[in-house]
Amino acid sequence: MSEQAIGVFDSGLGGLTAVKELIKVLPQENIIYFGDTARVPYGTRSDKTIRKYARQDADFLLSKDVKLIIAACGTVSSVATELYESLPVPFTGVVIPTATAAVKATRNGKIGIIGTPATVKSCSYKKEILKQNDRITVYQQDCPLFVSLVENGFISADDDIVRLVVERYLSEMKQEGIDTLILGCTHFPIIAQAISDYLGKNVALIDSGKETALYAANILGSNNLLNTSSTLGSCSYYVSDTVEGFRKTADVFLGKSVEDEAVHINIDQLVSADNSVGRQK
Ligand code: DGL
Repeated sequence: MSEQAIGVFDSGLGGLTAVKELIKVLPQENIIYFGDTARVPYGTRSDKTIRKYARQDADFLLSKDVKLIIAACGTVSSVATELYESLPVPFTGVVIPTATAAVKATRNGKIGIIGTPATVKSCSYKKEILKQNDRITVYQQDCPLFVSLVENGFISADDDIVRLVVERYLSEMKQEGIDTLILGCTHFPIIAQAISDYLGKNVALIDSGKETALYAANILGSNNLLNTSSTLGSCSYYVSDTVEGFRKTADVFLGKSVEDEAVHINIDQLVSADNSVGRQK
């Protein structure tokens, strides 16, 4: 039995949609979340910058002695793929679990993928889908405005602005007749209702947070790292911008208010103070 925490990070608050699912799937596990709220968004930055930030975020979690790291960020999972090889603990991003679920879900072999510009440019989900089944047709669309809408609280399916942006981004995929859509960014489940209203009930929406939580449970199980305690686990939250800002918005992503510990850290200072944090391999 391992009481060490699972480390989860994202560029900001989107990764909390994965934490919400982790708490459901593995209620006894302790979780340490890091949201790089001072440097969000990652999805419009260069690959080099995304890789640098991702490594710093992972190093911070390693300094907390976590047993598994989850990049609950479509952008990091798509671009910083070297993390799979370079960390001293098991690591997963959101791409493989989410693509696998989409391949299982499609009936007509037409899958849409939406994500940040960096995610779509990487073709990460597309490559993984085609690796699993090369007869599937894939349609991709980057949706940077979705992140801004969610970060600024424009999330209601009845909001005209939300509806307009959803239609602008998704009309082509709708015309192509996709029956499955990957929400390839952890911010997007927050506007799933608006997306579903536009595409119709017959289009399955694949939520990366949910699929990744299930995948993480398998990794822990196969590495004998599950916490088999009968008491509920705790969550600690770390953010690089203000704790007040985090507390104000986190409940939208988490589905409940943050009652547990939330701490501000200066990620730049941490990294420059000890460049070797967690670099055991
Ligand atoms: N949460 C990030 C993702 O899943 C989106 C926000 C960003 O651009 O940093 O890609």
